[in-house]
Amino acid sequence: MDKFSKTLIIIFTSFFITGLFPSSSYAQNCSDYRFPNNNIYAACNTLPSLNSFLHWNYHRSTHTVDIAYRHTRITASDWVVWSLNPTGGGRSSAMIGAQCLVAFRNSTGLVHAYTSPISGYATRLQEGPLSFRVPRIGAEFANDEMIIYATIELPSDRTSFTHVWQNGHVSGDTPLMHPTDGENMRSFGTIDFATGQTAETGTASGGSRNRKRNVHGVINVVSWGILLPVGAMAARYLKVFKSANPAWFYLHVTCQTSAYVVGVAGWATGLKLGSDSPGVEHTTHRNIGITIFSLATLQVFAMFLRPKPDHKYRTYWNIYHQTIGYSVIVLSIVNIFEGIDILDPEKKWKKAYTGVLIFLGAIAAVLEAFTWYVVIKRKGQSTNNGYGA
Ligand SMILES: *[C@@H]1O[C@H](CO)[C@@H](O)[C@H](O)[C@H]1NC(C)=O
Ligand SMILES: *[C@@H]1O[C@H](CO)[C@@H](O)[C@H](O)[C@H]1NC(C)=O
Repeated sequence: MDKFSKTLIIIFTSFFITGLFPSSSYAQNCSDYRFPNNNIYAACNTLPSLNSFLHWNYHRSTHTVDIAYRHTRITASDWVVWSLNPTGGGRSSAMIGAQCLVAFRNSTGLVHAYTSPISGYATRLQEGPLSFRVPRIGAEFANDEMIIYATIELPSDRTSFTHVWQNGHVSGDTPLMHPTDGENMRSFGTIDFATGQTAETGTASGGSRNRKRNVHGVINVVSWGILLPVGAMAARYLKVFKSANPAWFYLHVTCQTSAYVVGVAGWATGLKLGSDSPGVEHTTHRNIGITIFSLATLQVFAMFLRPKPDHKYRTYWNIYHQTIGYSVIVLSIVNIFEGIDILDPEKKWKKAYTGVLIFLGAIAAVLEAFTWYVVIKRKGQSTNNGYGA
């Protein structure tokens, strides 16, 4: 292997690795955190979404709990909420009935912390008393994180509750609707203040649904997101090598056909997921998916209508074929990122797929340059030959 290829391999590999693992050093152990006011909490939990942490002391004798809720990586114009929901349960019912502790920096520049009970989806987080007593509440914002401190008199004799946490933007002094996709739709679980036990959503159906979503994601990323662009690269870059003459064509057809077959299966799993979860609308993701499927199907049928290479309409067919082809690739990449935002709590998929794209992009850039070099050189040679003759 020559020096040049070795260097290329090293560059690609490091691109790939940095794409996969940037900034993964984010501290996950909540018990290492030191509070600015030196408060000490006996228990803590790293919540599974929205970069949030819950610290608490449970007092058995009074059935009260002192909590410190930390919501990190937000801006000064965001609101945050941590709430108990004594009546709610799963995904569809976690919000209604939530008894919220709210905090945001208001127009005076001070951090305003207050309680707000939620009775409907159209809430603006208006101030109001909760169904249980909150003797103390305060909050502070610094270094992109909000901390809500409160004491809660736990309702009834229970210590285990559904809890929900959220964030969103503030406009003026009004909290706006929180985002309705990705982590913001998974930010609830159960918590037991006495035992310290927590669970995400806990249910078996939640687990199998997540598995289905992951399968849907993997199939579509591999087919539409990787095979399809690789097939397009085979057509564009192998063609210049005279020795690769029919081979590039078969490689291209094989890649695109398998991408299509696998991709349609992935598309079908997406439709099924959509119909299994009424009320959860991922309209953009769905519409882009349907568009991709239609264009790709058109592309398959157009293969059969392909004019012979020397036919006068072949140029037009080529333009059509490439336009639709590149559109499908661009739409696929856009939709994969849409899908990842819906799916991925830790953003690790986004990093992995961005790594793959950078890798493919780098290869394409090198091959593009090489193709131009070859084409220009050939032109030069044929001109020289012309003069020489
Ligand atoms: C977190 O850190 C504490 C002490 O710093 C340690 O005892 C505990 O085992 C750690 N937990 C995890 C999950 O790493
Ligand atoms: C802003 O927050 C401070 C601190 O809680 C509060 O005293 C003040 O009334 C709030 N102002 C508005 C306009 O909500």
